[in-house]
Amino acid sequence: MTDRYGDSTRAVKAVSSLPIPGDPIQPGPVPASAYHLSDDEGSEQNTYGRATNPTWRQLESALAELEGAAAALTFGSGMAAITAALRVMAKPGSVLVVPADGYYQVRRYAAEYLAPQGITVHEADAEQIYQAAGSADVVLAETPTNPALDVVDLRRLAQICRQRGARLLVDNTTATPLGQQPLALGADLVVASATKALSGHSDLLAGYIAGTDPDLMAALERERLLSGAILGSFEAWLVLRSLGSLGLRFDRQCRNALALAGALASHPRVRSVRHPGLPDDPSHPVAAAQMRRFGGLVSFELADARAVHALVQRSDLLVAATSFGGIHTCVDRRARWGDPVAGGFARISAGIEDTDDLVADVLAALGAG
Ligand SMILES: Cc1ncc(COP(=O)(O)O)c(C=O)c1O
Repeated sequence: MTDRYGDSTRAVKAVSSLPIPGDPIQPGPVPASAYHLSDDEGSEQNTYGRATNPTWRQLESALAELEGAAAALTFGSGMAAITAALRVMAKPGSVLVVPADGYYQVRRYAAEYLAPQGITVHEADAEQIYQAAGSADVVLAETPTNPALDVVDLRRLAQICRQRGARLLVDNTTATPLGQQPLALGADLVVASATKALSGHSDLLAGYIAGTDPDLMAALERERLLSGAILGSFEAWLVLRSLGSLGLRFDRQCRNALALAGALASHPRVRSVRHPGLPDDPSHPVAAAQMRRFGGLVSFELADARAVHALVQRSDLLVAATSFGGIHTCVDRRARWGDPVAGGFARISAGIEDTDDLVADVLAALGAG
């Protein structure tokens, strides 16, 4: 299916199991219902809701298809997926590299829970990560990074990891599988939040891991069963329903992000702009070589925090919110979360509004230089 169709067609086909006319909504078997067990012990698939259920399996097969993986596992959030993968891959004595410029709570988890267990944790940004990988056992990369939008060269990093015998995990949240395919570029696992563009409506949290090594996937499934960081069936169904429109939504988000980045770049009140799709962005050459779409995020810097607040207040379309990937265009001032950025640094997540409306609104809200 992958070679024959475009991304939107693949997304629609990946999620479609034809509903049976007249059937009620079925979110999956009710956990622990008596009627799921048969006399033929050990043969049932749907024994208990923490192990698996049909709604997860349908979502997991769609996610595996989109990531180009043999299998995927859903989790209750992106953090649940990432931390499950780190628990399985990094053991006492391991050297683990986490992004210095990626999602900040991953760094906090590594520092607060993994380091005290005898795992050596190194933080490396998108430039330092190649060198850090040369002495690591497990490397977690995030690209484009959140919020700076630097791009890590995944082919190069995967080669270093392979030579060293290290495992490479890639957080594909900001790029989405329609933006980049880390497994095809050499990663061992994709870990990601489906809270963002994949579900796309800012109304649920979900996460997943995709991979191809059967032993590794079995170990991760076991970890999910025992730790219990599972996704509700209803949320799984909502993600599945949303995936069918991912191609349309993400194409518009990418187009809007590029248009906003271009408009911001030439505005006198804007100190700097980052977006991997801008031809003069430092990340552009690597992004152009490994990404199929440049994503819906733009980072930029205004004079200070007040200027960011004023921008949101004056705008009719921008919403102040910290998540991203939804249908509304959102702005998040990252210093508020402790990211090592200037007070006027903000990340825009482009929504699916009409491009001209969005650009006109943001330029009007910025005001004349
Ligand atoms: C890049 C990245 N990875 C992982 C996460 C964690 O995802 P969740 O909030 O679904 O746990 C986030 C959340 O913002 C993120 O931005």
